[in-house]
Amino acid sequence: MEITCFRRILVTGGAGFIGSNFARCLLELGACEVVVLDKLTYAGNLANLADLAGQPGFRFIHGDIADPAVVAEAMDGCDAVVNFAAETHVDRSLLEPAAFIQTNVHGTYVLLETALRAGVERFVQVSTDEVYGEVLTGRSRESDPLRPRNPYSASKASGDLLALAYYASYGLPVMVTRGANTYGPYQHPEKFIPLSVTNLLEGRPIPVYGDGRQERDWLHVRDHCRAIALVLARGEPGQVYNVGAGNHRPNLEVARAIVRLLELPEEMIQHVTDRPGHDRRYAVDASKIEALGWAPEIPFEAGLAETVRWYETNRDWWIPLKSGQFADYYRRNYGSRAVLSGGAET
Ligand code: NAD
Ligand code: TYD
Repeated sequence: MEITCFRRILVTGGAGFIGSNFARCLLELGACEVVVLDKLTYAGNLANLADLAGQPGFRFIHGDIADPAVVAEAMDGCDAVVNFAAETHVDRSLLEPAAFIQTNVHGTYVLLETALRAGVERFVQVSTDEVYGEVLTGRSRESDPLRPRNPYSASKASGDLLALAYYASYGLPVMVTRGANTYGPYQHPEKFIPLSVTNLLEGRPIPVYGDGRQERDWLHVRDHCRAIALVLARGEPGQVYNVGAGNHRPNLEVARAIVRLLELPEEMIQHVTDRPGHDRRYAVDASKIEALGWAPEIPFEAGLAETVRWYETNRDWWIPLKSGQFADYYRRNYGSRAVLSGGAET
């Protein structure tokens, strides 16, 4: 099956970072109709979709995935659903977990239930490698136990399990993807790479949590979107697919690379208080999706340089995000850390 075979694809959370890149990717692949449903939380941004608005086949609906009436309307006539909608920031989940349970668990349930009633033919639940918990050595396989250690990853693991239960119990054709840490254009400046780049562009340091030796596998958003599109078209119902690029880097090394790209001194990196329960390392074995025909194409150094340039040339996109609700949130919750790190206070 190809993307062009679908009549109408619902992309929930499509005004966020990966979802907006994915909606663009679907239209580039020739999808007939793409409907985005998004609640426009602090992380959702219509500017992410500005170039798609008005394109034939594209429609935006403002609404909550936990609202059954809105979801039924958005899913009407859709033969496929890709669920990106989620609360996604680990630090926020440690402070205010309720919204994570509401959207990532209950919202996922509402989508699954509505999809079942609507006879949706393909449902992709976009998840994360963080559901495996920290992996100090080796790589997680799809069959490994889930050991999430913070409210974000626990709520995502719950969403995965519900989605797989809807396949096993009711035959809803669900596939789950578990992607690695993703970076690229349109990522909210609360996340590590865009926070680091935009802080430096504002003359502030990069706040590195703890010793900075925590390791993540950095996956470019376009590679991640191609993987999800492949699973949507050719994944096997009931299956889970890890998506990782093999770009394992300690945070400190990523911070140093960003400082070098902006030709700044290493003193612009500051160690700050560590995140509680900070997972040291995530790493997945991606051989299952590779066997389906996917491989990462963007080397980390090239992708990072392109991303730094994107934030340098799109200040109008991120400056408002750092001066609105995000700044209020940081002031409330990270007052001392923001001062320590030269973080996001205004
Ligand atoms: P994001 O925070 O940038 O975007 C999330 C989007 O969901 C926003 O547009 C927000 O408005 C919307 N949303 C939140 N609650 C909603 C609700 N109740 N109803 C409708 N819309 C709602 O997140 P992202 O980084 O683009 O992540 C997208 C998905 O990919 C998430 O499910 C996340 O768990 C997963 N993921 C992210 C990464 C990563 O590194 N960013 C890696 C692997 C998987
Ligand atoms: P983040 O982008 O929040 O993604 P996740 O926690 O989902 O992996 O963080 C990536 C890594 O960077 C993680 O190890 C935490 C670290 N980090 C910092 O060192 N400083 C920061 O200001 C942030 C936001 C993250």
